[in-house]
Amino acid sequence: MAIQQTLSMIKPDAVQRNLIGSIITLVEANHLVVKKMTMTKLSTHDAKEFYIIHKDRDFYSKLIDYMTSGQVVVLLLEGNNAINVYRDLMGSTNPTEAKEGTIRKLYAEDTTRNSVHGSDSPENAIIEIDFFFK
Ligand code: CDP
Ligand code: MG
Repeated sequence: MAIQQTLSMIKPDAVQRNLIGSIITLVEANHLVVKKMTMTKLSTHDAKEFYIIHKDRDFYSKLIDYMTSGQVVVLLLEGNNAINVYRDLMGSTNPTEAKEGTIRKLYAEDTTRNSVHGSDSPENAIIEIDFFFK
């Protein structure tokens, strides 16, 4: 498998519960390398832009309120097959459906406050990496 880069966020619920280190430990244990990292608080404008693909969904405004409720840690991760490796490590969007050992099974509070973001395709990884690290 080829080396890929993916964009990860540790979301406000996890930052607020002091889980940054625990999540990065899982990332590194799964052979993903942190290449860039920053901590920021998203503006409403930025959160809306980042999640523009979901603008017509009923959860959009709830998602924007949540994502702007506190700081996030943004990580550029690199590794073999990084996009799918990290998606697998995250687990399902709804933590009640997430597999044992995944970040969301371990830490997510609910389908909105689900602790982490990860790019879902090579195309979106490029867009999302540019969004934060251009
Ligand atoms: O993050 P992921 O790619 O697994 O899920 P998504 O379908 O792309 O949704 C983006 C984010 O919107 C989720 O991670 C949740 O924080 C939120 N969401 C929500 O609040 N309620 C839903 N029914 C689905 C997603
Ligand atoms: Mg998604």
